[in-house]
Amino acid sequence: MSDVREYVKEVSDWIDEIMIYLEKIDIKDSRLLSNIERLSQWTKDLDEEEMDYDDMVVIEEEMSRVYGEIEEIALELRSKDRQSVPIGKHTLPPLPYAYEALEPTISREIMRLHHDKHHQSYVDGLNKAELMMEKARETKDYALLKHWEKEAAFHGSGHYLHTLFWEEMTPGGGGQPKGDILKQIEKDFGSFTAFKSHFSEAAKQVEGVGWAILVWAPRARRLEILQSELHMVLTQWDTIPILVLDVWEHAYYLQYKNERASYVDKWWDVVNWPQTAARFSEAKKLIWKKQ
Ligand SMILES: [Fe+2]
Repeated sequence: MSDVREYVKEVSDWIDEIMIYLEKIDIKDSRLLSNIERLSQWTKDLDEEEMDYDDMVVIEEEMSRVYGEIEEIALELRSKDRQSVPIGKHTLPPLPYAYEALEPTISREIMRLHHDKHHQSYVDGLNKAELMMEKARETKDYALLKHWEKEAAFHGSGHYLHTLFWEEMTPGGGGQPKGDILKQIEKDFGSFTAFKSHFSEAAKQVEGVGWAILVWAPRARRLEILQSELHMVLTQWDTIPILVLDVWEHAYYLQYKNERASYVDKWWDVVNWPQTAARFSEAKKLIWKKQ
């Protein structure tokens, strides 16, 4: 293979890889795609006889320009997902489809009310709870902390779970999953049918209101099905525990009797911060697309 033909092959392999990557990260920038398309067409049209050194230089320049644009867009997307949501600044993510898109399974009216009113109220409630807890830290007045923690758990779980809920539905969805997740479901539940029955029963048997939730347990490396009455019992689903303190009586009563506060104050002397830091840095690697 001549140098020229080898170069053309390299360019077209590169274009194939880039197209797969763009699809994977869901980039649909029309200017970028038309540049790549042009470059791709160009390499297809060229044959060994017609291609000279100048052509190669031009293609190389085009390639580095397109590559630069891809880098720029990818960086922009990455930095958006890596930014923190400031305290009290959660926003309602837009529905990823039209209100009527899930009909006849879920009506337009339900979607409009559920998303625009109910989900919005969780976002508002979470923002308020976060701001009030920030105020408590500033003023060192923790008198209402228990209340705001409850609010943060209730509205936070409501916001995060609804965000997942909208994303996991789609018009024309249904059927069975494929690939890795299907294999794991079959391994952990026996079959897809068994999983579906268990999940449906869990949903039907939630006491009062709540959720059925398929979770991944990173430590057991298994999928499990859980129920959540309401949204939570003082937790925020979709978060990762980093530092935990056991205040069940069995954790301190023999030594501290009913002095839980003194146990809590002393406990800080035995915290293994390097271990906690390691867990935090593992947890940080998980990046969910914000909206
Ligand atoms: Fe809901």
